Amino acid sequence: MKKSIVIPVAFFVLIVTVGSCSKDNEEDQPGNDNCVTENMSFAGNIQPILNANCTTCHNPNLLNGNVNLTTYDGVKVVADNGKLVGVINHSPGFPPMPQSGGKLSDCNIDKIEAWISQGKQNN
Ligand code: HEC
Repeated sequence: MKKSIVIPVAFFVLIVTVGSCSKDNEEDQPGNDNCVTENMSFAGNIQPILNANCTTCHNPNLLNGNVNLTTYDGVKVVADNGKLVGVINHSPGFPPMPQSGGKLSDCNIDKIEAWISQGKQNN
């Protein structure tokens, strides 16, 4: 008898919790639905994100992880080997980046992933 009450109650709590979490995220990131990811330009869209969040630690003078994010060629290496997408998504098996900083916004992650799926153009 007890079990038949506990399970529906637990389910209800789970749904309410999950529901409120996703609502919080939407509130935290207004305008995320307006994130433009079409026709990504390396120079216009991607390099500025990296310059703002990554190049203090990944430049020719400070090659942490042997990664240089100040040039197209350097970025392409980690885009090709999957490390760029792994680190910015904080995926298991990758050191989360930016190191000791907050995760990139969903929109910036979407833009980087879009640039990769659009052929990693040097444009
Ligand atoms: C505060 C310094 C710092 C910042 C900022 C930073 N990184 Fe790193 N990054 C490191 C260090 C240190 C390593 C080497 C860590 C390791 O291998 O565990 C590293 C390693 C990496 C690697 C190689 C991972 C691997 O598995 O070999 C990639 C790719 C990377 N960073 C990308 C980024 C990107 C993209 C950003 C910005 C979104 C960023 N980093 C910001 C310090 C930083």
